[in-house]
Amino acid sequence: MNVLTALHNRVSVSRLTEPAPAQSALDNMFKAAMRAPDHGLLRPWRFLVLRGSARDRLGDLFAQAALNDEPDLPPAKLDKLRSKPLRAPMIIVGICSPRDHPKVPVFEQQLAAGAAINNLLIAAYAQDIGAIWRTGPMATHPTVCRGLGLSAQESVLAFIYLGTPDGPPRVLKEEDFHPFVQDW
Ligand SMILES: Cc1cc2nc3c(=O)[nH]c(=O)nc-3n(C[C@H](O)[C@H](O)[C@H](O)COP(=O)(O)O)c2cc1C
Repeated sequence: MNVLTALHNRVSVSRLTEPAPAQSALDNMFKAAMRAPDHGLLRPWRFLVLRGSARDRLGDLFAQAALNDEPDLPPAKLDKLRSKPLRAPMIIVGICSPRDHPKVPVFEQQLAAGAAINNLLIAAYAQDIGAIWRTGPMATHPTVCRGLGLSAQESVLAFIYLGTPDGPPRVLKEEDFHPFVQDW
């Protein structure tokens, strides 16, 4: 797919099914992520790939996190949390790993990591892979971050759900960019 076609048309896909992306498609996505604009070339990101039963382990972490906050949480709510990562055959956790740098603040490193995640999403779309960037309260929960092995400096920026689109692609009306742009 032409790069402008992908950039102009990318949409999120929330209904995802098997199969998960093939390794060659994943490699293309990570290569695209590595070309994100990056002040100081610090590469302040890393990705965790969760396939198969790793998604169950993430669901268990979500449930544990919620139980830590609210020990009496009803079982139905726990089951709902546990099943969230099963909404797609694969999840990539996008993590910002800021480096110590005298000129590049953490904020800029988070922007670079976000750009890397967006590159990855566009590369997924260009290969007909369905994807959606999700966060929610679990992304910042200390139990989840610890369980995923993050250091104190790191943060989860995205749970990227990936798979084969389950249904026809959404076609969007082209959005008028003019109200968002002014000459100065
Ligand atoms: C930082 C960030 C966090 C997001 N978190 C969620 C989320 O937790 N749940 C959700 O449904 N959409 C979330 N979204 C929005 C979707 O990824 C998606 O962009 C949105 O539904 C609009 O759809 P589109 O990408 O097709 O335009 C998030 C987007 C960003 C950039």
